[in-house]
Amino acid sequence: MSAMHIPQVLIPQEIVLIREILDNADWQCGKATAGQQSIQVKHNQQLEENNPNAEQARDIIMQALGRHPLFFTTALPKKIFPPMFNRYTAQQNYFGNHIDNAVRTSRLGMWVRTDLSATLFLCSPDEYKGGELVIEDNLNSSSVKLEAGDMVLYPATHVHRVEPVTSGCRTASFFWIESMVQNIQQRQLLLDMDLAINSLKRKMQDSCNNQEDSQEIIRLTGCYHNLLRMWAQP
Ligand code: NI
Repeated sequence: MSAMHIPQVLIPQEIVLIREILDNADWQCGKATAGQQSIQVKHNQQLEENNPNAEQARDIIMQALGRHPLFFTTALPKKIFPPMFNRYTAQQNYFGNHIDNAVRTSRLGMWVRTDLSATLFLCSPDEYKGGELVIEDNLNSSSVKLEAGDMVLYPATHVHRVEPVTSGCRTASFFWIESMVQNIQQRQLLLDMDLAINSLKRKMQDSCNNQEDSQEIIRLTGCYHNLLRMWAQP
């Protein structure tokens, strides 16, 4: 599975609100929450998990995730680690190559197996230079820098880094998802199938002007759900 772009997770009013909340927050050195290996390459700022501003901003993001169908079908989320926030600016401006820990424990004692990593961009690309999220995928690497409110989901098994921010400030939310379908190939197959069925549905509706699904679409949708039933561990 490659990285997946999830556009417009947040609406413009939510972006404005979250940024206001985060601008007034008490930012800490990111090393405080780094693992043994990543502490050597982590140079950013972060909000502590129990920071009240982070809690406010997190609620907005959790609500937004709950209403986004593409997020749901891509991640098939079982558990979402409470979203956290980081900032890259001035001297604390990059995060070198690292791999995220396989299991994360939140402050509330919640365990999440990190099947997917998420970065939700909160600044628009023209507000800072550099700051690309680079995801290494064997021979390929993808460089990601998205509009404010957009999110990238990628397998947490991939080495990744954030390139130095050479001017401006890059603020983002990041978190992890444990999926109902742990196997990445099964999850990819379900996603492809779901996207294809939905696109076929729209095509049929447009061309036949018929709101009722065809027998074939009903059976394909049944196959999707029966595969999900077979593979999901909710
Ligand atoms: Ni990471």
